[in-house]
Amino acid sequence: MNELAGKHIVLGLSGGIACYKAAELCRALVKEGATVQVVMTEAAEQFMTAVTMQALSGRPVFTSQWDARTSGGADNNMPHINLSREADVIVVAPASADFMAKLVHGRADELLSLMCLARPIESVPLILAPAMNREMWSHPATQRNIEQLRADGTTVLDVGAGEQACGETGDGRMLEPEELLYDLVRFFTPKLLAGQHVLVSAGPTFEAIDPVRGLTNLSSGKMGFAIARAAHEAGAQVTLVAGPVGLPTPRGVGRVNVKSALNMQKSLDHLAQAATVFVSAAAVADWRPAQMLDQKIKK
Ligand SMILES: Cc1cc2nc3c(=O)[nH]c(=O)nc-3n(C[C@H](O)[C@H](O)[C@H](O)COP(=O)(O)O)c2cc1C
Repeated sequence: MNELAGKHIVLGLSGGIACYKAAELCRALVKEGATVQVVMTEAAEQFMTAVTMQALSGRPVFTSQWDARTSGGADNNMPHINLSREADVIVVAPASADFMAKLVHGRADELLSLMCLARPIESVPLILAPAMNREMWSHPATQRNIEQLRADGTTVLDVGAGEQACGETGDGRMLEPEELLYDLVRFFTPKLLAGQHVLVSAGPTFEAIDPVRGLTNLSSGKMGFAIARAAHEAGAQVTLVAGPVGLPTPRGVGRVNVKSALNMQKSLDHLAQAATVFVSAAAVADWRPAQMLDQKIKK
């Protein structure tokens, strides 16, 4: 909780259906302790009202470079300068194909792109969360633009795959708000474990007695999963060997599901060879039956 306390995030919205996810993202950022200043393009306002974003962020939304309201404590009618100077990061979510093309060319004919261009590039990172139709996403022009943006020092996040608002299926969906939140928290976490390969065991084991019965315990697995998540946030490559639990896999973490203590041991023995750190957080069963019966025991 409060993983973004003290951070000031400028959240930009460009024109795309995924603006609806930006509302949830804004809420999540505020809940984690960040202050959020929303800036929207004209097209974004077709998909989401500034009223909603103001209500969620608790700050007036800026949509025009000609907006003369006080911004960043200054009355100079330069929101593009003032808003970017306050920011710890600028996140554009969704980033439309058009918006990314504009950034590549250093275009600055409206507030959001102007602010991105005018930001102090060394101290205010820019993160883009693309969102678009699969054909737009895979178009060589878009891919070329993303390559150029990365070369210019911009962080361009992944996209998700699946059903799209247009009815087609493929790559190009914006990441879900909780995935974006995780990526932002990770972005701000010092990379103390960069270069490490952390192996974590988590959860209970299940020792079968017969095909329907077994010995196990009530370990939730939460500790190991939280350790795996924290290690990944700190820059490690992380593999999680999990007993039978229904917890979602932390973003960016590799997971191997196992059942019995012997399964877990075999998996860990193998994976430990490539690991530099092992955290043993699993609640391995204390006992196992001398033999597992192939047939269900009657009673
Ligand atoms: C209904 C509708 C949905 C759209 N969805 C997207 C989208 O998801 N991603 C995208 O890049 N463009 C999308 N577009 C096109 C952009 O809104 C258009 O390129 C616009 O000029 C972008 O402006 P901006 O980059 O200044 O925000 C959509 C257009 C319409 C009419």
